[in-house]
Amino acid sequence: MRVLGIESSCDETSVAIVEDGRKILSNVISTQIDTHKLYGGVVPEIASRKHVEAINLVIDQAFGEAGLSFQDIDLVGVTRGPGLIGALLVGLSAAKAFALASGKEIVGVNHMHGHVCANYLAHPDLEPPFISLVISGGHTYLLEVKDYLDFEVLGQTRDDAAGEAFDKVARALGIGYPGGPIVDQLAQKGKSRDIFPRVMLEKDSYDFSFSGLKTAVMNYLNQAKQRGEEIIVEDICASFQDAVLDVLVEKSLRLLKDKKMKTLVLSGGVAANSALRSRLQEAFQGTDYKLYYPPKILCTDNGAMIASAAYYTYQNHRGQSLYADPSLGI
Ligand code: KG4
Ligand code: ZN
Repeated sequence: MRVLGIESSCDETSVAIVEDGRKILSNVISTQIDTHKLYGGVVPEIASRKHVEAINLVIDQAFGEAGLSFQDIDLVGVTRGPGLIGALLVGLSAAKAFALASGKEIVGVNHMHGHVCANYLAHPDLEPPFISLVISGGHTYLLEVKDYLDFEVLGQTRDDAAGEAFDKVARALGIGYPGGPIVDQLAQKGKSRDIFPRVMLEKDSYDFSFSGLKTAVMNYLNQAKQRGEEIIVEDICASFQDAVLDVLVEKSLRLLKDKKMKTLVLSGGVAANSALRSRLQEAFQGTDYKLYYPPKILCTDNGAMIASAAYYTYQNHRGQSLYADPSLGI
């Protein structure tokens, strides 16, 4: 079954064609990062307009790259939430128009399911059940993935998402947007010091809280400025990143143990973080625990993960409504 996947929930217009939920035939990503960079973050109205400009071109390119035509598609899958309302509506309108004109079926897809499904594209052997740490710009979840579409939320953020914390700290440091990849790079050259809090919450909780950490970094920077101390950006990045990773790693490992599960799957933009990957790889070395994560291009938003999620949604007769829902839960 060939699925056309359309993603437009934030600042990437992306369209892909995927076979049977696993094989990428094309995956075109048009990013708006250079535009939003000028404002230090995503401006929703500009995002919507940019999606309108890009969507038809990106659809054409996805067919071109796959060497397929409209008749070769069996199903259309499109992100219906969570995300920015105007941005979601552009993808949904394009997908509905395509389905209507071509007579193909269409399913609405949960963007967060898509992030988990990115792993099925990268790892042909991966099947549920597993634990997934889903860490993106807008969400942070620890999930028990019992089946392709059976998710139990065991932990989530109570305030800022992990990626949001990276982006806000990067903004405070004036090092650019999106912050995650830049902090990741600079941290490699920095010296980590234990100067920021690790917020673990209640003893048994798998929930997260990153807003206090973000504030602690900002306070540290203000005080250092007032005292006329030199700020070594690389060291701040390394210290902040370690504070985030200590919490993510501790809670993920504890959940695996508590649930007696051996497979951890990383998804979402922050899963691209090189220190997180190597830390977990190290922790699992010589054990029978398994770690999976997608290549970086499939960690951040893309149409292929939506096509994969659409395939499993359709197979499970679980087509979601086609209304945009900015705060859609898992
Ligand atoms: O999943 P995603 O593309 O968009 C959302 O659905 O939110 O995630 C984007 C987030 C941004 O906050 C970005 O800073 C973060 O992922 N990110 C990273 C890295 N690459 C992207 N965070 C840490 N380290 C990275 N290498
Ligand atoms: Zn995303």
